[in-house]
Amino acid sequence: MTDGSDAALLDAVDDRSTPAWTRAHAAGIDRTERNVAPIIYPPEAPLDPALHVWDTWFLRRRDGSVAEIDGYRVIFALTSPSELLPGKRHDVAAIRYFYSRDGKNWTTGGRVFEESEPLGSRQWAGFALYDEGEVFAYYTAAGRRGEAELAYTQRIALGRGGAVETDGDGLRIEGPWDHFVLLEPDGEYYETEAQSRGMIYTFRDPWFFEDGDRTYLLFEANAPVPDSADVCGGDPAQREFNGCVGIAESPTGDPTDFELRPPLLDAVCVNQELERPHLIVRDGTYYLFVSSHDHTFAPGLDGYDALYGFAADSLRGDYEPLNGSGLVLTNPWNAPFQAYSWLAYDHGDEALVTAFFNYFDFDRPTLDDVALLPESEQLRRFGGTLAPTVRLRLDGRETRVAGTLDHGHLPLPSEELPEPWWEPGEDVAVSGYLTPPEADAGDGVLDVDDPDC
Ligand code: FRU
Repeated sequence: MTDGSDAALLDAVDDRSTPAWTRAHAAGIDRTERNVAPIIYPPEAPLDPALHVWDTWFLRRRDGSVAEIDGYRVIFALTSPSELLPGKRHDVAAIRYFYSRDGKNWTTGGRVFEESEPLGSRQWAGFALYDEGEVFAYYTAAGRRGEAELAYTQRIALGRGGAVETDGDGLRIEGPWDHFVLLEPDGEYYETEAQSRGMIYTFRDPWFFEDGDRTYLLFEANAPVPDSADVCGGDPAQREFNGCVGIAESPTGDPTDFELRPPLLDAVCVNQELERPHLIVRDGTYYLFVSSHDHTFAPGLDGYDALYGFAADSLRGDYEPLNGSGLVLTNPWNAPFQAYSWLAYDHGDEALVTAFFNYFDFDRPTLDDVALLPESEQLRRFGGTLAPTVRLRLDGRETRVAGTLDHGHLPLPSEELPEPWWEPGEDVAVSGYLTPPEADAGDGVLDVDDPDC
């Protein structure tokens, strides 16, 4: 720890020489047929009509493989009642689980925790570990239980003690759970709420990862940047954007005990939110993925709501942005907010990427404009379910969209996939999916009285 003075923080900033996503990299962000997913149309049925469902993650084993328990696989997701205005869902988020035998049809299991149990006034994204018959449910405790006014304090928490029961009727996850805080920002490697300047700070979205015999948690955070730091060409407006990918290590491998380590990557002067960091390791290359928003890029940079990625030759290696800019997968220009919160997992030669179906039939330049729509339209245009899975080829430092699967179709690596649209070696662009003919391109003018606008 430092004494918190500017000089001490500057030393900490200099010492750690964190690999950086720079403004020069991000200036290269551009939609091409390599990184744009097709337009998403609403599925015949959502995952659960009673729920809005967004950030989603698998129940996994310590080695990262998806747990299969008596033939079931399980996903955990942030949820709220579906009658709620979608923009309000973060304020009441609760973690529920869903299970499936085929990775296509999902049954709602219910809340992971009883309503009165977990830490925080609501729970944000996490990770679910199944180890020696016990479920360890990592999550973000947002706010504090019982608070009078909604607070944005974020702590990384763990519920341990869950058990999985299966019978002819399906699968149940049951407590009792023991809840505790695992990590809070220290003010040196990771910005505290008090240190943050503008936009909401971040300290959330834990993701468990084993590298050989070492045990880690990745998470989303911000790097403290003292006023006197010589960054962003001295532009104070840019330095407020200080997202980073945080990491903590368990010295003994105990999944309940972690210590903060310096960040893996930062985006100082570039972007405020590197959300839901996670890794795929293939043939010695560490692919680090994050989701980020159009509106969290620093002034002077244009990005998209997108999956961004970086690659290095070791966990603490010198991460380079994939495809030069970091952009891996984004939404079409005429449906720029149709999906978010991507999660990539390994599948043979491909990575499969799930996300949630966000706002469709909406081509305004900013998500803030959703609030201009009548409430019925805000509800109608929110997907609130799993998006179609996107197939991605990873080739060294390059990636390419190769096809899609159905909404919420999450095959295991052992399951074969149909022919993709695109195979390595083909140099022709796959036409028709950057701007499909059916897409409602809109005229960019929002007529709030017109329900079809
Ligand atoms: C991404 C995200 C996560 C957070 C959650 C809150 O969609 O911002 O970082 O945990 O949503 O709902």
